[in-house]
This record gives sequence, structure tokens and C-alpha cells, in this order.
Amino acid sequence: MKFIFGIALCSITVNSFAQTKFPYQNPALTIEKRVADLLGRMTVEEKAGQLNQLNGGAFTGPAVNNVGQNEKIKMVQSGAVGSLLNVVGVADTRAIQTEAVKSRLHIPLIFGYDVIHGYKTIFPIPLAEACSWDLEAIEKNSSIAAKEASAAGVHWTFAPMCDVSNDPRWGRVMEGAGEDPYYAGLVSAARVKGFQGNLNDNKHVLACVKHFAAYGLVEAGREYNQVDVSRVMLWNKYLPPYKAAVNAGAATVMNAFSVVDGVPASANKYLVTDVLKNKWGFKGFVVSDWASFGEEINHGYAEDEKDAALKSLQAGSMMDMESKISQKYLPELLKEKKITTQQLDEAAGKILYQKFRLGLFDDPFKFCNEANEKAVMFTAENRAIAKTAAEKSIVLLKNNNNILPLDKNKKVALIGFYANSKPDLFDFWIGQGNSNDAVTVYEGLKSKISNISFCNGYNGDNSSSETLINEAIQNATAADVVVVNIGISGKMAGEDRSLAYPQISDGQIALLKALQKTGKPVVALVSSARPLILTLAEPLVDALVQGWILGTEHGNAVASMLVGDYNPSAKTVMTFPYAIGQIPIYYNHFNTGRPTTTDGLGNWYSRYRDIPNEPLYPFGYGLSYTSYDYSEVKLSSSTITKSATLKVTINVKNTGLMDGEETVQLYIRDYAASVIRPVKELKAFKKIMIKAGETKEVSFSLTKDDLSFYDADGNSIIESGKFSVFVGPNSRDTKKADFILN
Ligand code: GLC
Repeated sequence: MKFIFGIALCSITVNSFAQTKFPYQNPALTIEKRVADLLGRMTVEEKAGQLNQLNGGAFTGPAVNNVGQNEKIKMVQSGAVGSLLNVVGVADTRAIQTEAVKSRLHIPLIFGYDVIHGYKTIFPIPLAEACSWDLEAIEKNSSIAAKEASAAGVHWTFAPMCDVSNDPRWGRVMEGAGEDPYYAGLVSAARVKGFQGNLNDNKHVLACVKHFAAYGLVEAGREYNQVDVSRVMLWNKYLPPYKAAVNAGAATVMNAFSVVDGVPASANKYLVTDVLKNKWGFKGFVVSDWASFGEEINHGYAEDEKDAALKSLQAGSMMDMESKISQKYLPELLKEKKITTQQLDEAAGKILYQKFRLGLFDDPFKFCNEANEKAVMFTAENRAIAKTAAEKSIVLLKNNNNILPLDKNKKVALIGFYANSKPDLFDFWIGQGNSNDAVTVYEGLKSKISNISFCNGYNGDNSSSETLINEAIQNATAADVVVVNIGISGKMAGEDRSLAYPQISDGQIALLKALQKTGKPVVALVSSARPLILTLAEPLVDALVQGWILGTEHGNAVASMLVGDYNPSAKTVMTFPYAIGQIPIYYNHFNTGRPTTTDGLGNWYSRYRDIPNEPLYPFGYGLSYTSYDYSEVKLSSSTITKSATLKVTINVKNTGLMDGEETVQLYIRDYAASVIRPVKELKAFKKIMIKAGETKEVSFSLTKDDLSFYDADGNSIIESGKFSVFVGPNSRDTKKADFILN
């Protein structure tokens, strides 16, 4: 007996569901034909029911228009619900699906869930994963997450998040792929392909491109806050990742909570119909974010719920997550001729299409196999892939005197509350992951280093005390090297976790100062799901490692990197500001009329008087245990036509003693255009293995697509003029060559 919504449901074993009374039940017909036949048999209320998505499990938003549990079951049984979110596990999904297919036309539910970076085996947060610059691995990671989720009865994940953001005050930067639109697009497309695969093998789930659009621009990094974006910036900086994910075949798109041009995204016809459907040809369905249809009232856009239901459908949005207003008001609005049958059929039809595509009409229990659920969950293979992903995510920011990698035979003093706290290893979006399964840094290091001590050094609230610091000094003095895990808890990552002070706490700085005084080499490992302000910590330590929040294999991956079993290759995909006052700061900025000079001379130019203008660490930055030397960059020509391809080559030498993987990055600059262009734009990269002492020639091809940009109407434009190419290990330290585009 299963209890769903608190109701005891007999989870009968329905093995097959082959009824072929009507054409829509005939798998031999095309999906389009089956959808058309079914729509022709549905009542208006049943069509409106397909647009209704209710929460069926843990809340991931505020309760609105609460429906009683008995009422929920009755709605499912009567076909008044098209989807549930947050119901997971074969037993629960089977039990509630059994109720759904009792409805008059036996329409199955689609189950959605936030599988953001793993389902049971938890991978690095997406922002960290993106620092690997390994698109194949990123796709593989998403396919593992999909395999576990689909085995647990989930049909649809609310991922990838494609919001470009430059603001580490925003807790959700962890969910994306960093600040560059081109790279975030490639990563988002890889995630879509990983989640969806070919969708008819029970091992994949529908993807959902979110939050459409430009939600990463929430003002001041404050969750749910306003967004104000020009059309030029919308097209050139914020839309590309969503477009790349749609082009990769994403089945669904989720509205953002915020507004664009003063219109809430879920009621924004320009975004949902003009851009997504008409310009990009998106054929899937659009789901609101949690209760965002109803929140159009709070925004001051809709008069009341009925008005919000009307405006959302008219804009082209379809499924109503948790507002419960579409199912309630659309039949009335149709009677009043405020919406058309065609509009309702299009919305319901797009949702039904995906259910047919998943095979749910032919077998509603296709994803409900208990044996498979047990077999694929949290396997050693999945964890091994998660560990590799985690190793590839760790960014080495500083390594003075090469104190890293650690000598395994030396005595290590490991200090830091977070190095031994499982609950703080996980963030807000961990699916069905259990932090008790996660490996701490202490556990990981103990498996590599026999002579190791541990103490907290600070409290779980990041404060410290004389007692804690004295204990840390004692341990440090007795050791050869200190590894101190600083940062903030993974619990401070994700939705509704905006921070005004994304920085290392005073208590941890006090600890670092005390440890520096011991004269022992100090390695600082930062655990955080966003770039923190590390400016006060950096001069106090000999080595600095951005360890992020890496999921189940966190400690094993960190240990493997610290002892050199893995040579770090990650490069940050989000700028590390020098100070909070610099935020937002990013590499692909504009030159301004009074460009910042780096020599600090002169007056009357764009700068702060109290801090440097440069960030602490720029986009694309990350060190290795080896070193690389870049030759001058060579171009196949110094002038090219718009139809030509420009070949760019550079030699990279591994000048160190260790083999290593280097991500060679190529940026361009368009000096004069009808809309101004950034001082640098990433347009290509190659991650290559270079053996110690080896030199590799790296070549790129630039075409007109790489030199184009968008005007305010979203038209792709390419214009003649002077360009530069920059190639290097990050967005700052590059070799430059110029060319003219005719
Ligand atoms: C949340 C999030 C969204 C998530 C949805 C369902 O409010 O904004 O990203 O997918 O609700 O949990």
C-alpha cells in the first residue's frame, strides 16, 4: 500500500496497458495523428487539465491555492492534472499513475523533477562542472543523472539552467555555466543531449531550458528581483545559451520569474512567441516557473488570477506549475471567447505530444521498473564518473613554491569545519542525493595520507574563537604542511540564497593569519558554490584552490588533486571579483568612452579610487602543476572576406615536469560596429593533453559566424572593419594578432 498525498493508494501492478480502441491508442500511427485524434475526443476541461501541474512531493516553492490531498487525487483521477512535480521513486510514481490512467481517456501524467546535478549520485554543481571545459564529460554526467532519474519514474528534469550571470551575490550562479554566452551555450547543449539522449530507451528524460529569459540578471543578485535588460544585451549576451539548448533539441522551456521590457516572462509574448517559437522554431512546450503565472498579479501586470491565466496563454506559455489558475479559468475564458479552441488545443497538444514521445500512452509504467531502479542507482561506475567530473572541476588559483602537490609521506594538519561536515557538502538542488553518502575532504585525504591530524579551526557559522585557533596552531606547528578548508556551506547555494557578503568570514581570516604566523606552508581549499571574495585570504596562504561543491565524491576528488594523483586542469568560468564593490565584473565588458588603463596613470578614466579595476582572477583562469609557454599567434591572413575562413595557430609548450591538460582559449574583438562590441569575446577553445617538455601546435578556424553579432531585433549582423584575435590560457594573459575583415 503506498501513501501519496497522504492517501493510501493501492500500487497495483499494472503490467501492460495495451488498449487500442481509439486511433490515439494505436502506436502504429504518427504522434501528430494520435494527438489530433485525442484532442478531438477531449472536453475543454480535460484540455485545461493537461496544462495543470501540481506539486506532489517536497515543496520547492511557496504553497499557493492549496488543494486538499483528497481533492488532488480526485483531480488526477478525473484528468484535471497533466503533470506532477517532486514525485519520485517507482513505487510512488506507479501508484499515482495508476490513478491517472483511470481517467476517462486514460491520459497518463508526466512526472517532473529538479535533476540539476545528479539524481542519487551527485555530481559537481553545474558551475564547477563547467570549469572542466570538457563538453563530452559534461554530456556523460547528464546522461548518468538521467539514467538514475528515469529509473526512478521521473520523465522530465527542470534542467539545464542557462541563465548567464555576473553576480556571485546570487545563490543560483551555481546552477549555470558561467558568464560567457558562447561557452554557456555549448555546455547547455551538452546537458540537453546528455539528459535526452534519444528519449526512447527508458534511460533518458525530457530536458527543460530555464529560466527563460535573462533571469541571471536579477538586480543586485537578489533572488526574484527585477531584471532590466536592453534588447542588444538580451540578444548578444543572455539569449544565446537558451538558443543553443533549444537547438540541441530541448523538449521544454521554463519561464523565468522575472520580467523583460516590463512584462513578466510567463506572459511575455515577445519572448515566448516571437523569439522562442517564431524565430527559433521551438516545437516543445513551455512550463511556468513555480506559481509564476499567478505571480503576474504581484508584478502588477495581471488584474487577477483569471487575467493572469489569460495573459499567460496568450503569450504562448502553456503548463501552469502550481498556480492552479489555468485549469480553473481557461474553460470560462473559452466560453467568453477571450481565448480560442486553437490556442487551447495547441497548448494541450504540445504537452500530449511529449507524453506520446516518451511512450507513456503505450505503457504508462514504462519508467516503473523496480529491479532497474535498484540496479542503476548509485553504482560504483556512476560514482567513479562523478569523481572524475569533480577532479576536472577543481581550479588551482595559486601555488607558490610549488607546495602542491602534497608529499604523501609528510605530516599534514587538516583544519576546517567544512573538511569534516557531510551536511555542508551538499547544496539546495541535490535531488535524492544523501549527504551521508558524500565523501568529506578529511575522509578523502586520510585515504591518501597516513600522517594527518584534524581540527575544526572555526565553527559551522564561520565564526572562530581563541580556543579553536590555538588548537589549529598546535596542530599546524606539529605538521609539515597545513591544509585549511575555508569557504561557506553548500547549504548557502541555490535558490533563495542571495548573499550581500559573498566572502571569507572574519573568523576564517583570523584563523589564516594565525596559521601564517606558524611559518608552515599553508594550502587554502575554498568550498563554495560561487566565486567568493578571496582578496583577504590570498596573501595569507601559499596555495589557493577553488574546490567548489563537488557532490558525492567531493573529498576523494579534492584529495586526488591535492596529492597530485590528478593534475588540475580546470579554468574558472566565472570571474572572481577583487571586491564586492566591483560586482558585476566580467571579462567581456565594453571599452567605455574612457577606458580603464592598467598602468594606473593619468586621470579621467573609468576606475575606482579605492581598489584596482582588475578582478582577483579573470574568466578562463586556472593553474596546473606544470607550466605552459605560448608562442606568438599566427593568422593565415591579415585581411579576409566575409566568406573566408581565418586560420589561427599557436604553439603551446609544456615547460614543466608533469604531463597536463591545457585549455587554450581564443577570443576576438570587433573594434567598431553598429552596436558596440566587448573588448573580448570567447569564440573557440581546445582542451589538449601536452606531455612534459612537449610542444603542440593548436589551430582554430574562424568564420563569419564567429565574427557576427545581433542587432536589437535579433538579426545576425557581420560588418567589415578591424578585428583582433587573442589566444591564451585565460581571458587576460593572451597573445594578440590583428586582421581586417573586408
Ligand atoms: C523553483 C525554481 C525552478 C525549479 C522549480 C521547480 O522555484 O525556480 O528552477 O525548477 O521551482 O522546483
